[in-house]
Amino acid sequence: MRLEGISAAVTGGASGLGLATARKLAGAGAAVTIIDLPTSQGAEVAAELGARFAAADITDEQQFAAALDAAGPLRALVHCAGRGARIRLVEKDGEPGALEPFEDVIKLNLIGSYNALRLGAARMAEHDAVDGERGAIVLTASVAAFEGQIGQIAYTASKSAIVGMTLCAARDLASKAIRVCTIAPGIMDTPLLGRLREDVRKSLEDSVPNPKRLGEPAEFGALACNILENPYLNGETIRLDGAIRMAPR
Ligand SMILES: NC(=O)c1ccc[n+]([C@@H]2O[C@H](COP(=O)([O-])OP(=O)(O)OC[C@H]3O[C@@H](n4cnc5c(N)ncnc54)[C@H](O)[C@@H]3O)[C@@H](O)[C@H]2O)c1
Repeated sequence: MRLEGISAAVTGGASGLGLATARKLAGAGAAVTIIDLPTSQGAEVAAELGARFAAADITDEQQFAAALDAAGPLRALVHCAGRGARIRLVEKDGEPGALEPFEDVIKLNLIGSYNALRLGAARMAEHDAVDGERGAIVLTASVAAFEGQIGQIAYTASKSAIVGMTLCAARDLASKAIRVCTIAPGIMDTPLLGRLREDVRKSLEDSVPNPKRLGEPAEFGALACNILENPYLNGETIRLDGAIRMAPR
């Protein structure tokens, strides 16, 4: 897919990996809509990038649908909105792990991704195919989908389900000429990690085989754009992680 001139939406585009993707897409000449919470920095960063901001909570079907409609004739959707959570099956005090935070993470990360697939694809399916395709969707998982660490039970459940949905969604949408791929990032240098102590950050960097550093959000944005541009990439989850394999803790 040629990115120049297409309408592209990025959820979670006000920060971190989504922001870096919105920046790359805008640089490639796409008309970008940042979809993020009304409390986010979406309006400010959209103004800086020459993009549009559509405030929405992606777990709310109506808000998400309206934001996608505001994006114009959608051809590309990069879905980055998501978050982690710390819950154990049995907490240190012997209490069973809490149910509500588990449900919250599943709602945001997994049901949010299902919303992105179905609401995004329904809009893409309305268009005529260009160069044999109607659109492409990129989801965001995590290496925690494969090596969930202690305390990541909810996050891992949600992210491995996104990996599981990827091939299924690509098959489901093949007849509509819409592709679906997922990126599973390792440890990326986003605002969350900017708050870490220097020694903790150094030990995270040391855990990456090569290159020995955290991933740059721009590297995620570049891969998301490569996936959108390459018509033969479909149904695949790509790790972006410097060959890291997460330890149990
Ligand atoms: N940063 C990493 O190291 C890393 C590693 C693996 C996976 N990921 C995944 O990448 C994605 C982006 O992470 P990030 O580090 O850029 O995080 P971030 O916190 O910098 O950005 C996430 C954005 O999503 C938005 N968001 C959250 N809930 C939302 C909702 N309900 N509706 C709309 N927008 C919402 C936030 O406002 C924020 O702008 C997440 O899915 C995360 O799980 C990140």
